[in-house]
Amino acid sequence: MRFMTILSPLILGLLASRVSASFFSSNQKILDDKASVPGDNPLVFCLADTSNDILKIENVDLSPNPPRAGEALSIKANGNFTEVVGEGAYILLQVKYGLIRLINQRADLCEQMKNVDEECPLSGQKTITKDVELPKEIPPGNYQVFADVLTKDDKKITCLEAKVHFGK
Ligand SMILES: *[C@@H]1O[C@H](CO)[C@@H](O)[C@H](O)[C@H]1NC(C)=O
Repeated sequence: MRFMTILSPLILGLLASRVSASFFSSNQKILDDKASVPGDNPLVFCLADTSNDILKIENVDLSPNPPRAGEALSIKANGNFTEVVGEGAYILLQVKYGLIRLINQRADLCEQMKNVDEECPLSGQKTITKDVELPKEIPPGNYQVFADVLTKDDKKITCLEAKVHFGK
């Protein structure tokens, strides 16, 4: 899907950082009591308590922040996989445009990591950098991104959320 192509590098940047638990519950609140992801980015952790996350996200920088349609976006992320993450790990990705759910899909983490020159098994300290061109055709408006990252056995790797506004 087209939006997946546009957004997956963004998501990867997020992933590179870290994520937590089930943000797919429909009544989850987005704003209250969220912990920001360190760095220059619009990300928050789904749950403020990230102590059990396998991936400890240390920093995520986006440039420009926020991203702008029609411009290159540069993503740099640092984190530490405190346990070995192998094949079968996955990302549950949801993207909303206003109230409309644009994307709701599952992606293979190990496959996605190849886009940032990493391979499973993942362990220890990782730094990821990625430049992506954001198409100028991204419809203006408010987007909400949720990325829940889990191991094959459904252990939380990380969970991230972001709100991004694209202008005209
Ligand atoms: C990464 O996590 C492992 C396991 O918890 C720890 O031993 C190691 O010191 C951490 N590395 C860094 C650079 O924080």
